[in-house]
Parts: sequence; C-alpha cells; structure tokens
Amino acid sequence: MFEKRFKDKLLIQRQAGLYRNPPQIEKREGKYVFVNGRKILNFSSNDYLGLGTSRELAEKVAANFKRYGASSSSSRLVTGNYSVISQAEKAFAEYFGYSDALFFPSGYQANMGVVSALFGRDDTVIFDKHVHASTVKGMELSKAEFLGFKHNSMSHLKKRLESRSEKQLFVLTEGLFSMDGDFPDLGGIAGLKKTHGFLTLVDEAHSFGALGEKGRGIGRSIADVAVGTLGKSFGLFGAFALLPEGFKEYLFNFSSPLIYSTTLPEAHAASALDALEIVFRCDAERETLRKNSLLMKEALGADGFNTCGDAHIIAVEIGDEALAASVSRNLSERGVFAFPARFPTVPLGRAILRVGISALHAPDDIAIFVESLKGAYEKARSEIRQDLHHGN
Ligand SMILES: Cc1ncc(COP(=O)(O)O)c(C=O)c1O
Repeated sequence: MFEKRFKDKLLIQRQAGLYRNPPQIEKREGKYVFVNGRKILNFSSNDYLGLGTSRELAEKVAANFKRYGASSSSSRLVTGNYSVISQAEKAFAEYFGYSDALFFPSGYQANMGVVSALFGRDDTVIFDKHVHASTVKGMELSKAEFLGFKHNSMSHLKKRLESRSEKQLFVLTEGLFSMDGDFPDLGGIAGLKKTHGFLTLVDEAHSFGALGEKGRGIGRSIADVAVGTLGKSFGLFGAFALLPEGFKEYLFNFSSPLIYSTTLPEAHAASALDALEIVFRCDAERETLRKNSLLMKEALGADGFNTCGDAHIIAVEIGDEALAASVSRNLSERGVFAFPARFPTVPLGRAILRVGISALHAPDDIAIFVESLKGAYEKARSEIRQDLHHGN
C-alpha cells in the first residue's frame, strides 16, 4: 500500500517537473566537483570564502578530533555540557556582539530549536514569507499564531503589526535571503520596531562570515536574536544561535530539539573556534567575493537575464519548473553546475537557477558560466518546444 502511494506521488512529482534526484558527487576539489568522472565548475555551493576545502582548517579539525575524540556521548543537559563548548560559545557571542551563544548540530535544528521554544500559544509571530523552511517548521511546532508578510514589503509588515497591536510581537527575517539573494529592509524594520516594540530574529546563515565588517553579518542593528550556520562561510558544520541575556537558560529548559539530542562533541567546538579565527582573517576573500558577485550580476544583466540578488547569491529567473531543470541539466553538460530551485523551495511557477558565488571563483569562471548559461538556456527552450510539438 505504501509502495503504491510512494510511486504515485513520485510520478506526480516527475510530471510537474519537481522530481529531485541529487547528482552523485565523486569528489570535490576547491571550486570543482566531479560527476561521472567529469570535472564540473560548481556555482551551487555555499562555500562563500573557500574554507570548505581549506587545508589549514581541515588539519585543525583533524587535530581537534584526535585530541578530544569523536563523540560527546550525551545530550547537553546530561553529561554533554563541556567547558570547551561553553568557552567557544562565549567567544562567538563576543565576536558577534550578543550576550550569549548556543551551538546546535545544524542551522535547521537551530531555527527549529529556537523558534519552537521562544514562542507559544498566546504569541503572534510575523514572518517574511521567504524565510527558510526550518524557521517555518519552528513556527509550526511552537503553536503560536503566525502571519506572513509579503517578501520585504514594509507596508504589509506594518499592516500585520497594526492588526495585532495589543500583543507582544515577534518579527522573523533573514540577513541575506537564501533563494532571492536580497537583503532585508533594515531601515524599514528598524523604524517599525521603534513604533511597535517587537523582538526580531534574523537568520544570518548566508551573511555571517561573508558580509559585514570581519564577517559579522548585516543584521545587528535590528536583531535581538540571530542564527548562524557553520556549514556555509565557516567551512565546517553545525550552527549557533546568538541570544540576549536570559534566553540561553530558557532554551536549556524548554527547547526540545536541544534537550533531547546528542550534543556536538568538544572537537566541534574547538574547530568552530579555529574557523572563527580564520574567518576573522578573511578580508581578502570577502573582497574577492564582493567583486565576483558584482561581476556576475553585471554579466548576467548584460546578456539579458533577469536576476535578483544583492550579493553572492543570485537568482536567475526562469519561471517554468521543467525549463529550470532542463537549463540546469544542459549547463552540467557544458561542465558547469547551478541548482534549479523549484517549488516548494520557491513559489510555484517561479523557478530559478540559484547561483552561489565563491571567493574561489576567478573572473574567467564567471565568463564561462554566463557563456554556458546562454547556450544551455537556448538548448533547453528548444527541447521544451520540441516536447510540446510531439505532445509529450
Ligand atoms: C536561511 C537558512 N537558514 C538555515 C539553514 C540551515 O542551515 P544548515 O545547513 O546548517 O542546516 C539554511 C540552509 O540551507 C538556510 O539557507
């Protein structure tokens, strides 16, 4: 019975152009991945500073695991509250300018663990409709009332705030949106915060490390709570929540995903500190990333592509799901990879090619990408036309 249900649902997924089937990556070398023995230039990683393949970081991480062992063997609240972890969290809090920090095994778990615990049945949470799936999952688990506002629309946010003015309100947004690649309206949110006095959570998964002075992100002026991941610019894995006074104690007592899960090992905390120290030194990489991003945006625009994105994530607008998948496939055949983001990651009928830029890229790589995309786009369109002609 399950078999038939799965088969039917997968068939519908295929017919809608939404079928997901990740390519098998044989190995990675800096900005390249190897698929079926072919070397592919990768424009879909979140390795913004190039630390994901840094020899220096890999050696430090290996030394930490050798020294501390591979597992904490306990949840944080039983015998997993190691001094090394607390010290590393203190260093993260200081670096980013918050009272406290708390590590989580992933950004997904951090958003879920923080959002589900902070809000309850009597609260109203107002969120930008383009926040990450993990934040949405956290809201669902919290049982709070949650109201979306149109992506980056301050007039809609204001309306939402006014509709619930009698309540203690919370607003959730991102430092750099993971699919649109744009910034939140910091000035707009700051103004509304003054009038309505809400608390703000900013997910800086894509901005910490890569943007702001020394990688400190862009949302500090509006954020009461921030979430960062170590799996993107930091070249590691795991995540951290940055918190005001009193929140850490609260989460220790009420965050189910934190309480009932094995804590990351000491070696991870020591490695997070090493990654932070490297991120501090990465001014040159941040500058290269900024220049690469600008170059990509200009080159795509000059060739007539409609794009969205203010920094190192650029969304090339495609629209049709099957066309986006086909463009990505044709691009791979030309030795370049960019991920086709489709529903439910983005709204239905608004599929994009999500281009992730890295400090590892050179200007020539960007020229190769744009040239390949032109060819791939034309080929994909003609394939779709032929399919329609043959009634497929
Ligand atoms: C905005 C945002 N928040 C959180 C996450 C989750 O982070 P992690 O990959 O560490 O689970 C992601 C990852 O894709 C993201 O894009």
